[in-house]
Amino acid sequence: MLGNFTYSNPTKLYFGKDALDNLKTELKKYGNNVLLIYGGGSIIKTGLYDKVVKILHEAGKNVYEDAGVMPNPTVEKLYEGVKRARACNADLLLAVGGGSVIDYAKAVSVSVHCEEDPWDKYYLRFEEPTCRVVPVGSILTMVGTGSEMNGGAVITHPAQKLKIGHVFGDMVFPKFSILNPELTFTVPQYQMVAGIFDIMSHIMEQYFSGTDDSASDYIMEGLMRSLIHSSKIAVKNPTDYEARSNIMWVSTWALNTLVAKGKSTDWMVHMIGQSIGAYTDATHGMTLSAVSLPYYRYILKNGLHQFKKFACNVWNVNPDGKTDEAVALEGLALMEAWMKEIGLVLHSKELGVTEEMLDGIVKGTLIMDGGYKVLKPEDIRSILKESL
Ligand code: NZQ
Ligand code: ZN
Repeated sequence: MLGNFTYSNPTKLYFGKDALDNLKTELKKYGNNVLLIYGGGSIIKTGLYDKVVKILHEAGKNVYEDAGVMPNPTVEKLYEGVKRARACNADLLLAVGGGSVIDYAKAVSVSVHCEEDPWDKYYLRFEEPTCRVVPVGSILTMVGTGSEMNGGAVITHPAQKLKIGHVFGDMVFPKFSILNPELTFTVPQYQMVAGIFDIMSHIMEQYFSGTDDSASDYIMEGLMRSLIHSSKIAVKNPTDYEARSNIMWVSTWALNTLVAKGKSTDWMVHMIGQSIGAYTDATHGMTLSAVSLPYYRYILKNGLHQFKKFACNVWNVNPDGKTDEAVALEGLALMEAWMKEIGLVLHSKELGVTEEMLDGIVKGTLIMDGGYKVLKPEDIRSILKESL
């Protein structure tokens, strides 16, 4: 039975090869000062930077820049971005990049007019903004996080060894997002497959909970099937538009709040993965791929019916004559084979995790209670040990 919920998603999406043409229309809705936010320079190499700046100038905007947003954006960079946005009195934060750039823009957006320290307020106390929020628009260049249509903004505090995501409400969602699958063709293979697993993980985090017959689960099974199918094509031919466009669209739906409606959700793989990220600065999707199989095998008996459903409906396992546990394990074995086929990291030591870090990673892992098993610190340690 679906529980009570409210569904609303305020982000306007423009999808397809011509999606950038809509930027001009969107810009009319905002004041003159645009802070263009981007990462380490991929958008300059691909020529996207020139195209966007030209559109901004043609629209008569004053263009200011905040470049160098790193993967896993840090709190120091956030402080810098807030200063830049204040200095130019930004009317719009235009994020051009992947999840890191868009997350960062959202974190800046809630901090520009806020007098308190944003790390303490949003990431340690999880408060909602009480100040004016500067609007964010995005042009997505790397697929995986769903940041283009959600309120998530993950920031890392390297000195405190914490990586924390705040999921903000409607007012922090991008006002518009421009999704052209062609812009993802140049994403390096390692990042592309990390993004693909991030998508898979977002869906699994919302799928592995509950015992009821939920329409959301059926939607998720379809999304996972499409993702698995397209991922195999994209790793062989990264410029296959059909595959890249399907992956992009699945990614947005995997984490734009829809599929979680009426369900509880797990998120323990993300909590462990984020803590690994705080210690290693590893690529987000790879931190998830390294811990997923040990985690799911660890909790399998607590949610056996759902793991069986996953095996049959997502991986086409034939259950005839097999125990539920055998079916469930076969599903995870097929997932492991797929993960190997597309080139994911399966061991956390490949990301720089060492035995000595484990206690700290356990300590930095937030424990959630929406999945099949509420983990204790010693459970997390066992899962991490297995992942090495
Ligand atoms: O910085 P540049 O030069 O642009 O290079 C980036 C970066 O090095 C590169 N890249 C992006 N688009 C490209 C490209 N290179 C060539 N061609 C292109 N078209 O890819 C690298 C990775 O980019 P990044 O934005 O870091 O990747 P991703 O989109 O995976 O974002 C990761 C961040 O999002 C957070 C993660 O924790 C991490 O901090 N997440 C955000 C979520 C949300 N908002 O809801 C949920 C996720 O679970 C996740 O936690
Ligand atoms: Zn993720």
